Amino acid sequence: MQPSPFPHGRPRRLRRTPAVRTLVRQTRLTPDRLIAPLFVKEGITEPQPVASMPGVAQHTVASLRDEVKDLRAAGVGTVLLFGVPATKDADGSQAWNDDGVLQQGLRALRDDHGDGVALIADTCLDEYTSHGHCGPLRDDGTVDNDAANEAYARAAVSQAGAGADLVAPSGMMDGQVAAIRAALDGAGFAERTGIMAYCTKYASALYGPFRDAAECAPQFGDRTTYQLDPANADEGVREALADVAEGADILLVKPAVAYLDLVWRVKQATRVPLAAYHVSGEYAMVHAAAERGWLDGDRAMAEVLTSIARAGADVVITYAAGWMARRLAEG
Ligand code: PBG
Repeated sequence: MQPSPFPHGRPRRLRRTPAVRTLVRQTRLTPDRLIAPLFVKEGITEPQPVASMPGVAQHTVASLRDEVKDLRAAGVGTVLLFGVPATKDADGSQAWNDDGVLQQGLRALRDDHGDGVALIADTCLDEYTSHGHCGPLRDDGTVDNDAANEAYARAAVSQAGAGADLVAPSGMMDGQVAAIRAALDGAGFAERTGIMAYCTKYASALYGPFRDAAECAPQFGDRTTYQLDPANADEGVREALADVAEGADILLVKPAVAYLDLVWRVKQATRVPLAAYHVSGEYAMVHAAAERGWLDGDRAMAEVLTSIARAGADVVITYAAGWMARRLAEG
């Protein structure tokens, strides 16, 4: 018989009481490892709840300010902001409007908190284009990669000017990180604005509820010509390595729970700070099952968020950030 890896073959000694289990607990989720994604919508006077995402709303600038104060009080110091504009066009030009709703939100939060919170801006076009794709279209209906990159670069510079600490390109265009880095450097943001790159983002059915919240469902087709095929792991790692070479400061794997293997592999391959996005569908599934009484929603949510950290994510982006932070504070 092989010698036991546990002292005298008795691993249960360390599981006997809550105090002993706490002592040897390996992964600790803390509020400062959580990022809350938030939606700010132009042209509304009251926050609008998102039906498919319990606890999530489209915010006015005023309600956004209140929400971030509450999050900060709970220990969540980073938010990822999505703008939902009142008008859309084929180019998505509101994305680089210096007075656009996302830019207004960034400025308001910077006014409220100074550098006391980290502000991340989503840098993509699908919330801004009339067709819902992540870049401008060619005549044949495909997304024009390099034109999208030019638009992302303009949007990123506008967001940096409005106070974003990091911009987060989520469109999966080739070369998007390099294009944005060059634009930020050229506009004087070399030393102050970083890039959190959605490097390993899959063409997933788990984004469904988000598309209600951000009003960005593609009006035709899908995103399979730019987002990764869910079956491909090696390609996900290579995308991460490419983004590091292009200048990404933080990497991002998305979705998280269904792609924990990629969380682990990207971390091992890069040793770069890593975020994982617990996406809208992953959040909604737990709520939906809990509503039916099919599982204990609180325990399930805490378990999956801990699992994302255990797999190697330094930070977890989740709609449950505020809830989880408050639960952690209760002990
Ligand atoms: C689009 C974007 C999406 C999400 C974040 N940014 C949707 C998509 O790619 O279709 C999804 C996030 C979620 O589901 O929570 N730029």
